[in-house]
Amino acid sequence: KTRVLTGITTTGIPHLGNYVGAIRPAIRASKEENTEPFFFLADLHALIKAQDPKRVAESRLDIAATWLALGLDTDNAVFYRQSDVPEITELLWLLSCVCAKGLMNRAHAYKAAVADNDAAGSPDPDRGVTMGLFSYPTLMAADILMFKANRVPVGRDQIQHLEMARDIAGRFNHIYKGDYFVMPEAEVDTRVQQLNGLDGRKMSKSYNNTIPLFCTEKQLLKLIRKIKTNSLEPGEPKETEGCSLFQLYSAFATDDQIADMQQAYADGIGWGDAKNRIFELLNETLKEPRQRYHELLEDPAHIESIMKKGAERARAEAVPFMDELRRAVGIAPFA
Ligand code: TYM
Repeated sequence: KTRVLTGITTTGIPHLGNYVGAIRPAIRASKEENTEPFFFLADLHALIKAQDPKRVAESRLDIAATWLALGLDTDNAVFYRQSDVPEITELLWLLSCVCAKGLMNRAHAYKAAVADNDAAGSPDPDRGVTMGLFSYPTLMAADILMFKANRVPVGRDQIQHLEMARDIAGRFNHIYKGDYFVMPEAEVDTRVQQLNGLDGRKMSKSYNNTIPLFCTEKQLLKLIRKIKTNSLEPGEPKETEGCSLFQLYSAFATDDQIADMQQAYADGIGWGDAKNRIFELLNETLKEPRQRYHELLEDPAHIESIMKKGAERARAEAVPFMDELRRAVGIAPFA
């Protein structure tokens, strides 16, 4: 069986990019035969950026409800909170001890933080960089390697982290002379590797350019109308290539619908009309899960019971594997 694993950091509410890049492919993969899905809330990763306990708490519940509202089958999928599996942080340490510091120096998020310090003229390149931020990819490697994941559905921004996880896994296997870890593969949706946000940059919580997955109908329309376009008038033919609106439409449309929209662009559809069509399509797709999401949020105890069950199943894997790894590195019981 193939293990499919992915996680979402629990800061803020999930947006269309998270859905298209990770949640949707993950749920699809979980319905394939012969897969064993492991999906989790990366709430320890959340602490790197969010130090407002209320926000972290709300976001975990929101993201849990989101997965469930979108039809995740939790009998099949193991659905859990990262923080409920303490073996993951234990593994983080074992991995940290084989992971070269230089490898982490190359991580995009860390490099961006250092570059910001540089740009601000700070004398200390590491100013404000926590050990958490620095170790982020190692923790992510622990998430993945703990459950021997084969396939990891993610957006393009996570590819580097998958490479790092493979690198760390290889080093550990080499040093301790065994096939302890499976080599994970990133699985990036080729149609929408990276969904753009309102301003044309990557849709991201950090850029404040997101469309929340389950915002109200009114908000959805308002936000779609805000998506940046060029100044071509109705009647003038438009390019689909590199157009954020077209990309968003394609992420939700069937092949036939995409072909129709391409034709409409060539025929000079006005931006207002194109936006209305996109709203119709997205709203139709999201209407039902949005309703379920709000219902689920009314009953946190129900969600909690699902998470508890998930944690038990995850630990049933993690505890014995961690024992094996302790032995591998020489910290087993004396007798
Ligand atoms: P996070 O929470 O930033 O994003 C969750 C997932 O959504 C994808 N994504 C996008 N995909 C397409 N277009 C976009 N604009 C877009 N924005 C976000 C991300 O690529 C990601 O797949 N470190 C991870 C969480 C994590 C994880 C893991 C993932 C922790 N441990 C183990 C996989 C395996 C993160 O912060 O993703």
